[in-house]
Amino acid sequence: MLNWLFGGKKASSRGVALDHIGIDIHSHIIPGIDDGAQTMEESVAMVSKMERLGYTHIVATPHVMWDCYRNTPQIIQSGLEEVRQACKAAGLSIEIDAAAEYFLDEHFGDLLDEGTQLLTLPGNRLLVELPYSTPLMNTSETLFSIIQKGYQPVLAHPERYTYFYSDPSVYKKLADQGCELQVNILSLTGYYGENIHKMARWLLKNKLITFLGTDAHKVQHLDMIQKSNSENWVSDYPFQNEKLVKIQRR
Ligand SMILES: [Fe+2]
Repeated sequence: MLNWLFGGKKASSRGVALDHIGIDIHSHIIPGIDDGAQTMEESVAMVSKMERLGYTHIVATPHVMWDCYRNTPQIIQSGLEEVRQACKAAGLSIEIDAAAEYFLDEHFGDLLDEGTQLLTLPGNRLLVELPYSTPLMNTSETLFSIIQKGYQPVLAHPERYTYFYSDPSVYKKLADQGCELQVNILSLTGYYGENIHKMARWLLKNKLITFLGTDAHKVQHLDMIQKSNSENWVSDYPFQNEKLVKIQRR
């Protein structure tokens, strides 16, 4: 019996508890550099909510998508420092680091080819995303190149790429190729619609997911997560986030 699916631990009276997850590896909390938080006040409110959800670590992952968000390591690191200072001033003790969510565009290919040092999650993991509407022709080759360069690819929210639905075996192929998959919490609550909800559950049922992420862009996303209940929330799946906390502490 899959006791981690549709059952197991109950959400606490304050809503869902994410203490056992420890680290969030996908969020947009650095203000004004992508479609996430727009002000420092909003950033601090988001971090405060994440701390209350039970997280001890956050890795901010601003978009690097050259058509829309031309974020460089310098821009991200300087934004991170400002967020850290504002959170400290607000009395928050959660640890905050930064990586990026790299869109697999031409610019990303150039960065990879040039050997530029990319911003990574613990364990040299690289969070990458695909387009939502049209599949890329070279996804597999790009993932191969990422691995060749010594990074461990983590694909953000695979359940949201609906063009994969006609052949879900592609998810297994990605995992077999060495790509780790990160599901969004809000996909598991039905926030993005029923089809994405079903695919997120299917991916868990087939044990294809490695990490859980908030992908929080605004305070309301975290409110939705906080309100999610045990009926539509999976709490006992063996997510590997905690492993990354240990790597971070080394
Ligand atoms: Fe994201």
